This record gives sequence, structure tokens and C-alpha cells, in this order.
Amino acid sequence: MEIVVVADEGEFAAVAADQVCTLLRHKPAAVLGLPTGNTPVGLYAELVKRNRAGEVDFRRCTTFNLDEYVGLPADHAGSYRTFMWKNLFSGINLPATAAHLPAGDSGDPVRAAREYEALLAKLGPIDLMVLGIGTNGHIGFNEPYTAADSRAHVSQLTPSTIRSNSVYFGREELVPRQAITLGLGNILESRRIMLLAKGESKAKAIAATVMGEIAPTVPASYLQRHPAVMLILDGAAAALLHKPGEKPGRGGEAAG
Ligand code: PGA
Repeated sequence: MEIVVVADEGEFAAVAADQVCTLLRHKPAAVLGLPTGNTPVGLYAELVKRNRAGEVDFRRCTTFNLDEYVGLPADHAGSYRTFMWKNLFSGINLPATAAHLPAGDSGDPVRAAREYEALLAKLGPIDLMVLGIGTNGHIGFNEPYTAADSRAHVSQLTPSTIRSNSVYFGREELVPRQAITLGLGNILESRRIMLLAKGESKAKAIAATVMGEIAPTVPASYLQRHPAVMLILDGAAAALLHKPGEKPGRGGEAAG
């Protein structure tokens, strides 16, 4: 794993955006895998800025979002479709038909997951999969104990994920209990993976991802099996990483 620890929000967004822009320069018809959440907001703002400045072109690109809640109307304020249009898609020259998310509102989520899997099989593989990480080590909505070879599926959200995501809904009771997510197998089939994490609340999950055993309790630990993973971290998320022989907790240093 390549680990980059950045100094501030600006550098976090710039380093992540550089990865996307370099890929699109070399491969204009690249397939991107995209996350939602608080972590990628700065990256998306940076991509909008660079697209407006003519520094990156999304016209031939295809995107697959990692996941979507089950049961929310697509235009619901809490849906990931709404999030993506607000933060990225409306600000870049990506054709609307090239932006894919699971159809969480279809009424038949199992079928929607199967269709999403088939679409990715047709248009993929993903060249660069951008990931966030949950405090419980989830990637996408692959919660602990999801199989390493899982395909797109309907996932039951854990209590810790419902609690974390309640900030977007006001109350825990309003958070959907299910989501459609790409599986760990889909994620691991991506050509390259870039995982983003910020803040102290992610430090334990990041340490377990990088230095822990590969275990179903920490889905992100399966990333250790992938040959091309880059982690972009702020100092707080990197605080529990240490180099071999060092005591943990020195903070702010690259490891791995
Ligand atoms: P966050 O979510 O970016 O809002 O912290 C990440 C995740 O739960 O995967």
C-alpha cells in the first residue's frame, strides 16, 4: 500500500484530484468508482474547479457509485444520487447517461443489485475506485463479515453505520436500514484503488486496514491483497500508524 499523509484540507483535495486528473489525461474514457460521504466533498469541489478551468475533461468518462440507500426516492435530500448531483455531477462535463448509481428506489432492490452488477460487467472494470472508510472498517456498505468475494448486493446497515449516517437525516429512525452496494469482490477487481480518510474517528480503522490481519471484522483489510492501493490520510487518521520497530501513536508519519 502507498500511504500519503497530507498537511491540510487543500492538500488532501489536491493530491486526490491529481490522481483522477492524471488517469483521465492518459485514459479519457476511464471508468471511475465513486464514494459519497463527508470525506470526498473537497475532492469533488476540486474536480469541479479543475473541470471549469479546462484542466480535466469528463466527456468520455463513465462513473459507478459504490452504493445507494434502499427505499429513498432518487430526488430525496438524503439519497446518494442527490449528493452526487449536488457535489460533483452538476459541476462537471460528464454526460448524465454516463453517471451510474444503483436503483435504490426501484421497489425490487435484489433485482436492482443484479442489474448494477451486470452493468458494471459490461462497462467495467473500474480503472480507479475511490473509497471512503467507515469507523467500523466498512468500504461501500460492505459491513463487517461481508464475504471478500461478494458481488453487488443488498446490505443491512449496522447500528454503528446508522448512527454515523444519522447526521444526514437528523434522526437515527430516519436512516434507511438497507442499501445496495458494490461488493468487496467488485471493489478488489478495480485496477487501482484510492482510499481517503480524515479525522481521529477513522484512526483505528486505518490502523487495522494497514497493519491488522486480513479479517472479515475489518472489510477494508482485504485491500492488503490488492496490488495497487493508495491511501490519502490526514494526520489524525494516520495517527495510529507506525513503521516497523516504532511504537504506535507518533502520528503524522507515513507507514506501510
Ligand atoms: P464519511 O463516510 O466520508 O462521511 O466519513 C465514509 C463511509 O462511511 O464510508
